Amino acid sequence: MKVISTEKSQILAARIAGALNTSIVDVKFSRFPDGEMYLAAGELDDETIIVGSITDSDALVQLLLLIDACEGSKNHLVLPYMGYARQDKRFRNGEPISARAIARLFGKGVENCITVNIHEPEVLKYFDVPTTNLSLAKDMGDYIMKMGFSNPLILAPDDGALAFAQDVASVGGWDCDHLEKTRLSGVEVKMAPKKLCAASRSVVIVDDIISTGGTIATATNMLYQQGATEVYAACVHGVLIGGAYVHLKASGIREVFCSDTIERGCSRLSAADRIAATLRN
Ligand code: R5P
Repeated sequence: MKVISTEKSQILAARIAGALNTSIVDVKFSRFPDGEMYLAAGELDDETIIVGSITDSDALVQLLLLIDACEGSKNHLVLPYMGYARQDKRFRNGEPISARAIARLFGKGVENCITVNIHEPEVLKYFDVPTTNLSLAKDMGDYIMKMGFSNPLILAPDDGALAFAQDVASVGGWDCDHLEKTRLSGVEVKMAPKKLCAASRSVVIVDDIISTGGTIATATNMLYQQGATEVYAACVHGVLIGGAYVHLKASGIREVFCSDTIERGCSRLSAADRIAATLRN
C-alpha cells in the first residue's frame, strides 16, 4: 500500500503515510503551455490511498487526474476538505446541487471515500461508493485542553455547528453554547443578540469552516461587548479566503487555528492519525 497526494495536500498525505508506516509516491506536477495541468506519478503499488482536498477547481482537476493515473490499483480516496459541499441543496430555482455534482465525479476509480467533518453529512448519499465521515472534534478538544484554559466557554456560531461544539466541549466537560446566525450573502452574516455567560472568561469559538471570517468576527464583537477576557477561534477547515486571518486578528481574536485538512500556517492539529486509524480497519 502507498499514499499519493495532490499538491495542496502533501503534508497531510506524508503524515498519513508516516502513521501507516508506508511510503508515499513521488509525483511530478507541471502544466502544459495552455495552462492545463499535467502530472506523472512514480512507482505505484496495488493498493493506493489518494489524498486531496478540494480547495479550488485546480485541486479538483488534479485529484481527478491522480485517480486516473492510479488506474489498476485498489484506490481509497481521502477528501480531507470537500469544497462545494456547502451548496448541498437547491436554494433557488436554477441552481445546481453542487455537492452532488462533485460527489458524482468520484463514482469510478475508487473503492471508497473518507471525508473529514463534511459540511453537511447528508451529501454523502450522493457518492456512489461507500463513505466514512470522520470528526476532529475530540482532537480539537484535546488541543484546547493543552492550551490550559480554566473554565472556558466553547461557542458554536450557529446551531449547525452546535453538535460539533458539544463534542469539543465534552473533552474537558466545558460549558457550551451557540449563537443564532442568519446568512445574508456569501460574505455577510447577521447575528441575533444573545446574552452569553462570557463575562471574565476565555471563549473558544469553534466551527467546521472559517471562510471569510465574517461569522466569527461578528461573534467576537458580541463576546467582547459582554466582557469576555479573550476570544480564540478554531475550525477544522481553514479556508481563510482574502484577508480572513488578518480580519480575525484585527477583530481582537487572540489566536486562530485549524487542522491540516487545508494546509495553513495556523494548522495546529492533524487529521492524519484519525484517517490512518480508519484506513487500518
Ligand atoms: C456555515 O454554516 C459554516 O459552518 C461556517 O459557519 C461558514 O462557512 C463560515 O463562513 P465565514 O467564515 O465566511 O463566515
